[in-house]
Amino acid sequence: MLANPPGIEDVFPDRAQSWSLLLSAVREVFRLYNYREIIIPVIEYTEVFARGLGDSTDIVSKEMFSFDDRGGRSLTLRPEGTASVVRAYVSNGEYNRRSIAKLYYCGPMFRAERPQRGRLRQFNQFGAECFGSGDPYYDFEIIAMMDAISKRAGITGYGLLINSIGCPECRGPYLEELRRYYSKHVDRLCEDCVRRLSTNALRLLDCKQEGCIALRNGAPLITAFLDPDCAAHHEAVKALLTRAGIAFVEDPHLVRGLDYYTRTTYEFVSSSLGGQNAFAAGGRYDSLVEVFGGKPTPAVGFAAGIERMLLLIDRPAAPPRLDVYLVHTGGEALAAALRIAGELRAAGLSADIEPQSTGFKSQFKKADRERARFCCIIAGDELASGNCTLKDMDSGAQERIPRENCVAFLRKRLSIEL
Ligand code: HAM
Repeated sequence: MLANPPGIEDVFPDRAQSWSLLLSAVREVFRLYNYREIIIPVIEYTEVFARGLGDSTDIVSKEMFSFDDRGGRSLTLRPEGTASVVRAYVSNGEYNRRSIAKLYYCGPMFRAERPQRGRLRQFNQFGAECFGSGDPYYDFEIIAMMDAISKRAGITGYGLLINSIGCPECRGPYLEELRRYYSKHVDRLCEDCVRRLSTNALRLLDCKQEGCIALRNGAPLITAFLDPDCAAHHEAVKALLTRAGIAFVEDPHLVRGLDYYTRTTYEFVSSSLGGQNAFAAGGRYDSLVEVFGGKPTPAVGFAAGIERMLLLIDRPAAPPRLDVYLVHTGGEALAAALRIAGELRAAGLSADIEPQSTGFKSQFKKADRERARFCCIIAGDELASGNCTLKDMDSGAQERIPRENCVAFLRKRLSIEL
């Protein structure tokens, strides 16, 4: 038997049903806010992510699934969607000429992380990106959409953490101060953080090692370094959230693992997820469109992990039921049953039948396994009289009716009960 590679999962029908219910809620909320779907490729030139996410990020430096094409160019399975959406946006004359472009996407992402609960190597995200405005309203809109999706999905007890990491101008002096502080304690830092001190100092605040967490408490805070515009932007986002009744907690240590952010960063978290406690996250990235060769365009977005959200949806969707299982005795009875199965499907009812199986006991067992609402039985008697027997699988009641009335009868019974 061949197994899946670690961190790469199958999704069987019970979970797939909860998954598609979640995605219906997601698509409905995106529709309400006038976001349109973009379908981006799963494979990009590696450069898209190296340039977009930053060479020193964990994702680019050690978590990408990359390989060379036959011409020797490096390709990568996308680890996230934002860089691809930006690349696509910059290349599309229609969208990048709009004053505001609102796009959403869903699909699999790939990161070579150490697998654990809620942390996979192939996982699925849905996300939204809004291009064209630096107005704090759009930071609010993006957060409000994810809040609405969480509520529609029935997730309770989650928190929203929010921070501002300023713009490159105010972040410069902050990073100097941060490096000065951590340099004094370099002997207490983990190996990764010693490297981060020279490559990506902001990420020192994000380390999950005990020693580094302890040091973080004495570290200088970005909030004290925000310039007046960044501070005003941050206050405006918080005011909009408060006015809309969306609760949040300010977390001055929330820096995120991607280099493209400017100003607002946020995470939706739940303590029931354990170590990987964020189920959605995002922020503003006002410089990324320029990095991809576009004209200066402010932007903001978020992405959520479908598998992590499903861990939080404790009401699994009821498994689907089959409308009708056809029970037959082979030969002409099978031919009549197949005809009815075709008519039922054409009328919008789900129907299943196994041609080789002719024993009643095994066919009823299969009907039970499929949670069939009705069995439609055609055996010798029914064949001779032009009838069929319908068995209500919940009540056990049976009645014999002319075969030509079967579809109308079942439609009526099933639609009354739906
Ligand atoms: P991210 O925080 O890397 O942000 O990922 C967003 C969400 O994807 C996480 O909160 C989590 O739910 C899910 N996720 C990430 N890695 C894994 C994994 N290994 N296994 C399972 N789920 C995972 C981004 O991807 C940014 N592109 C978000 C964004 C959009 N920022 C602006 N626009």
